[in-house]
Amino acid sequence: MLNKENILIVDDDIHILELIQRHLQSLNYHTYKAISVKEALEILKDTSIDLLITDLQMPGVDGLELIKYASAHYPKIPKLVVTGFPSIHGALDVMKSGATDYITKPFTKEELKSAIFKSLESKPKIDKSKVVKQEIETKPYGELIGSSIAMKKVTDVIERLKNNKATVFIHGESGTGKELVARSIHYMGKYSSSPFVVVNCGAIPENLLESELFGYVKGAFTGAEKDRKGFFQAANNGTIFLDEIGNASLSTQLRLLRVLQEKEVVRVGSQKSEKVDVRVVAATNVDLKDLIKKELFREDLYYRLTVVQIDVPSLLERVSDIPLLVDKFLFKYGIEYKDRFLKITPQAMDILKSYNWPGNIRELENVIQRAIIMCDRFVDVEHLPDNIKYQIDFSNTQKLVSLKEFEKNYILKVLKATNNNKTKAAKILQIDRKTLREKLK
Ligand SMILES: Nc1ncnc2c1ncn2[C@@H]1O[C@H](COP(=O)(O)OP(=O)(O)OP(=O)(O)O)[C@@H](O)[C@H]1O
Ligand SMILES: [Mg+2]
Repeated sequence: MLNKENILIVDDDIHILELIQRHLQSLNYHTYKAISVKEALEILKDTSIDLLITDLQMPGVDGLELIKYASAHYPKIPKLVVTGFPSIHGALDVMKSGATDYITKPFTKEELKSAIFKSLESKPKIDKSKVVKQEIETKPYGELIGSSIAMKKVTDVIERLKNNKATVFIHGESGTGKELVARSIHYMGKYSSSPFVVVNCGAIPENLLESELFGYVKGAFTGAEKDRKGFFQAANNGTIFLDEIGNASLSTQLRLLRVLQEKEVVRVGSQKSEKVDVRVVAATNVDLKDLIKKELFREDLYYRLTVVQIDVPSLLERVSDIPLLVDKFLFKYGIEYKDRFLKITPQAMDILKSYNWPGNIRELENVIQRAIIMCDRFVDVEHLPDNIKYQIDFSNTQKLVSLKEFEKNYILKVLKATNNNKTKAAKILQIDRKTLREKLK
């Protein structure tokens, strides 16, 4: 009998890795080996894994962090811990972190076998013919993170798009995750094994966009030496993502309208039409209604595109998601730059939660990336950029106060953010402790 399950084994001890691998191979499982959490994450990202077996104590990021991360990002994969007790982590910690089961070293082949069977049984049964889809489904909305009400609205719509090819229009400020939403629509849906083609209408010169999108025939223009397919043909049966749709010229818009209405494309330089079956997802951060008023965007196309509209919330509308996002980026960049998972102090987290993120998630991601590079053991207030540390809230203009009053409020705010640590507060304020003490008086 051939077991088709893919099992990922993570251990920094190459002998143990090979031992487990030999056992698994004799039981006819497909195996993947990783000697660090970093390697394991790469395999998890690219492969459909049915069971994760990990050691606990490893240099850098340890197995417990891997279990926690995998529980959040790949909740459907069972996780079996193989550990050499006595360990720094108690059994309770291990189970609390999201592990399915654990066995202790040394173990017999029979013990390993029965733990694997038990763990695999805890996994929901899936249709093996849909491996790609199953892999995506184990990630909650691909990479889309968020449990806020605003984000829930978005994922509810994505859920409704799973079994159809309705056209979708995504609107949201820069850096809010429009592309990620588009990807989720494709990869969560029924047609996820078909192509997902991204076209940035703002990056392709206007005169090329039409031939890139719809293809051309030989001789259509100088340089067109043979027939060529366009992005629409390439995306057939799948999804085409038209990013920055507001940049498409009026003549491209007319052709797009035709694709949406007739489900056919005509190559540049040709009269013949070809049938295409593609879901169109368009996105923009500009106000298309405004472009319509200026006669730069066709109103009929606008209505064709907005069959389903998703408004991606700004980070300010989903402050409760900030800790989750911070965690994701701490993990990602911690592993990339420092080979381990770095934590953040509550004070620094408070500042991140109260900042008015104009650049949205992309800005938050950059801030964490930088902080990871700047810090040694954990991320603290001092590793955040000045404009975030010294944020000033001008939104409430009715309450304009004197400079003295402002200074007092600001000092109190910094003290609060540093948990009343005067040394840290003085450092942020760039005054010495004595001056701070005097001001406090
Ligand atoms: N809900 C989310 N969970 C996790 N990461 C996210 C989420 N939304 C966005 N990101 C991350 O934020 C960054 C920006 O996302 P994305 O490129 O999708 O934004 P965008 O709206 O297309 O931006 P732009 O308008 O600049 O093109 C990416 O690195 C993405 O992975
Ligand atoms: Mg984008």
